[in-house]
Amino acid sequence: SKAPVRVAVTGAAGQIGYSLLFRIASGEMLGKDQPVILQLLDLPQAQKAVKGVMMELDDCAFPLLAGMVATDDPNVAFKDADYCLLVGARPRGPGMERADLLTANGAIFTVQGKAIAENASENVKVLVVGNPCNTNAYIARAAAIKVGRTNPANYHGMLRLDHNRALTQLAQKSGRSVSSLKKMVVWGNHSPSMYADYRFCTSNGDSIKDLINDHAWNNDVFLPTVGKRGAAIIEARGLSSAASAANAAIDHMRDWALGSDDWVTMGVPSDGSYGIPEGVVFGFPCECKNGEFKIIQGLEIDEYSKGKIANTLKELEEERAAVADMLK
Ligand code: NAI
Repeated sequence: SKAPVRVAVTGAAGQIGYSLLFRIASGEMLGKDQPVILQLLDLPQAQKAVKGVMMELDDCAFPLLAGMVATDDPNVAFKDADYCLLVGARPRGPGMERADLLTANGAIFTVQGKAIAENASENVKVLVVGNPCNTNAYIARAAAIKVGRTNPANYHGMLRLDHNRALTQLAQKSGRSVSSLKKMVVWGNHSPSMYADYRFCTSNGDSIKDLINDHAWNNDVFLPTVGKRGAAIIEARGLSSAASAANAAIDHMRDWALGSDDWVTMGVPSDGSYGIPEGVVFGFPCECKNGEFKIIQGLEIDEYSKGKIANTLKELEEERAAVADMLK
């Protein structure tokens, strides 16, 4: 049997953590033959709640759960970690400006990026879920680069929830099954500015764009529905999306680790592809194979799409400017 791998999860006492940890421990993320050790990070005041979650994990008697640690010290949580899911973040409090939110999180993710680079496995794969996730991933990566050791390309932000949200909207509109849909892309920031692009999307060889053939629906219904879905969930549930966010995190890490035969949207540090400045963590269409990902190259970007991509990039550039001083 395989040796256990170490999976660090931050924000372990939170609502996404509560949906996520049980699925990691049951083998849904890394495979039904891969034992895991969970390394759980949360704030000091949340340690008691983390203990409670660990009691429940014990009570599941998961055959693949080979160990657990709870800590409030990032250096302990990320020690020898093979996978890090950075879920914990500072939420926007009353009266908090966007810039305050960015710098409060900047402080968290500079510490965590450094701790990962100093302590984790050299091949660690990092996924930032905590918002603003693209810029938090950008900050963690920048802090990690100063230390060296880990691969700067392996600091990702989560766009997969937007991708999955888009798939279901398209399936419902076109009457095709979700599982038949291939080649979906979401470009840019995990925010209402994201650009969910189904121009390349197919269902059993048919073009979804041709099947739907409704530009007004794309512009006036589909994009706002996907972009504002997070707010719609809060409005309906009184709490932000948690199970669907955990599900997307599982999807992202599983495809990255185990491969995928379809395109998947990942927020990855740009290598300059599609004119996105190097290092900006941006939603791109990716292919995953043998534990590696690659940005799909050569897609045609029409005028409408150019405008949408420029708009979401502009927002990320503004976020990057707001945290620039913290990275000196
Ligand atoms: P929550 O408030 O239920 O839990 C957050 C947990 O993180 C708490 O236990 C808190 O104590 C912990 N935490 C805060 N700062 C921490 C730090 N510095 N180190 C370790 N732990 C820390 O929040 P929930 O619902 O679990 O959401 C977590 C994050 O995920 C939020 O930032 C949310 O905006 C984001 N999110 C991202 C999505 C995406 O698609 N990228 C989708 C949905 C949520």
